Amino acid sequence: MITTTDYISWTDEKIKALVRPNIRTLVPYSSARSEFKGRADVLLDANESPFDNGMNRYPEPLSTDIRQALAQIKDVDADRIFIANGSDEIVDQVTRVFCNPGADAVVALPPTFGMYKVAAGINDAEFRAVTLQPDFTIPVETLKDSWDDSCKVLWLCSPNNPSGNLMDAGVVEDLIRSFPGIVVLDEAYIDFIPEESFLPRLDEFPNLIITQTMSKGWGMAGVRLGAAYASTYIVTMLRAIKMPYNINVLTKAAALEALAAPEKMQERVDLLKSERRRLERELGEMDFVDHIFPSVTNFLLVRFRDSDKIYKYLLDKGIVVRNQSYQPNAKNCLRITAGLPEENDQLLAALHAFI
Ligand SMILES: Cc1ncc(COP(=O)(O)O)c(C=O)c1O
Repeated sequence: MITTTDYISWTDEKIKALVRPNIRTLVPYSSARSEFKGRADVLLDANESPFDNGMNRYPEPLSTDIRQALAQIKDVDADRIFIANGSDEIVDQVTRVFCNPGADAVVALPPTFGMYKVAAGINDAEFRAVTLQPDFTIPVETLKDSWDDSCKVLWLCSPNNPSGNLMDAGVVEDLIRSFPGIVVLDEAYIDFIPEESFLPRLDEFPNLIITQTMSKGWGMAGVRLGAAYASTYIVTMLRAIKMPYNINVLTKAAALEALAAPEKMQERVDLLKSERRRLERELGEMDFVDHIFPSVTNFLLVRFRDSDKIYKYLLDKGIVVRNQSYQPNAKNCLRITAGLPEENDQLLAALHAFI
């Protein structure tokens, strides 16, 4: 068992030592546009087409405009933000930066977001799974007993997908302070409960990476834009391994437009939260629903008496939900996303008609 006296005191050197040696010393690709500083009227440096259609130039490699917009909204220094092609890409990049293939491990708490395991598989890192408790809280002591020095990354998902619950802040803090590697706090659903974000506390934890996305509350899953918030050193390492122009100009334009109107996002988030509550109320009255897990997100994890039957029945009606029955502690569970009010009406009408 770990006590506060075992909390890790991080130095820059200790953080650097966590990075794979070949990544630490990698000379990243230097794109044409990032080498020159100052003003230029004639761009003949990148073998682009000169015919202006708004897309003929390579995008600015560090997505500075997006980082500045997020820096303002989130009150974080833009140098501490890394922009990626969805937070999916960050999951892969974090695994690649810190895990030596064939030697290191990541730790995660299923049932949780599936990409942590896939990224471990791609990068030949051991995936060490510690199942959440039946109420989807973290089994702190079992988790602490599970890790050793080969564990480079701990994935914490809060609010968690698919269970929808927020992890206790005291437990999250204790884990960040005691884990001997990088802790990634995946806050993909934080726009539904922004006051609970760890972002304002980023400075306290040198080994913490927080990931967020425009795919959920912001309603922009199609543009693929995720952000990692971390120390400037960790951000530099993530930048070192990214593709030179990972965010395209169309994504940037759409994301900037959305970020300029946070009040629109808030309205939609509020509507989805009220729809989630409506679904929760009405589903709770159906006798083939066994349990609805408390959620702070835009989805509900619902345990049915027989989830396969319900899943197939809904498919027949043209309604697709996500089957989570294969996940630990989620037998007979379906994950249902709150849709538009009329879509939720359809779901509820179909379920009311289920015999
Ligand atoms: C917890 C969690 N993290 C990350 C993602 C992926 O987000 P993105 O669309 O930014 O890749 C998802 C998507 O469902 C998710 O549920």
